[in-house]
Amino acid sequence: MIGILGALHEEVLLLKENMHIEAVHHLGGRDYYEGTLFGQRIVLVLSNIGKVAVSITATLLIDHFDIDYVLFIGVAGAGNSFVKIGDVVVADFLLQHDVDVRPFYNRHEVAILNKALFAADEALAHRLLSATKTFFSEHLSVHVDPKTLEKFSVYQPQAHLATIASGDQFIQDATVLRDIHDRIWSGQNVILGCVEMEGAAVAQVCYELNKPCVVLRTISDNANHSASIDFQAFLKEVSSQYALGIVECFFKNL
Ligand code: ADE
Repeated sequence: MIGILGALHEEVLLLKENMHIEAVHHLGGRDYYEGTLFGQRIVLVLSNIGKVAVSITATLLIDHFDIDYVLFIGVAGAGNSFVKIGDVVVADFLLQHDVDVRPFYNRHEVAILNKALFAADEALAHRLLSATKTFFSEHLSVHVDPKTLEKFSVYQPQAHLATIASGDQFIQDATVLRDIHDRIWSGQNVILGCVEMEGAAVAQVCYELNKPCVVLRTISDNANHSASIDFQAFLKEVSSQYALGIVECFFKNL
């Protein structure tokens, strides 16, 4: 069984509408939908926004269901100028940019675990990346009206395998973004792919509870002054459609 998490209603809505629901389990204030989607047994749950909310959700998911791995799907702000709105970032590693226990630990390092970077499952990440590429090359126009893509200036979207930084902060300031980008580069020697608010928390929960995880983010904004404007419309019109199409390619191994 595959556990699928999303932080926002719109991110899970189409998946929920397309799944065959067999049972709904109410745990910790969340509804866990058990059933099948594109021939796979899944449990789908809306986590709510932020690291604590997603940690509760992921922990209950892993504890109550026989989960093979956790798949997190959502949107994110671009982390560097090569990543554009409409692209997808699949995580290779994830880090919490707001963790700072200096002087006892290095910046970003989680106490006791002595780790800043949490790895996604490598095989799953590569499969998800390849499913995303298939979606872009063969199925995009079926799921999203080309006029809608044009409205958001999405032309030939790309799939990236890159590091994702998470924190309890919606980034809408280019200076703040640059600071996160530069810190991660100088501290961890990795290039920031995107910023969001849950992925690295899921990765830490999965690391501590011994479950593979994989995280996919559609870029909804540039994490600068226009982030909140781009974000809402994009969520409704584009990223929810991406989620459905990419999960179909991923589950059917297209
Ligand atoms: N999710 C989508 N865009 C984001 C941003 N700019 N900052 C944090 N999380 C996001």
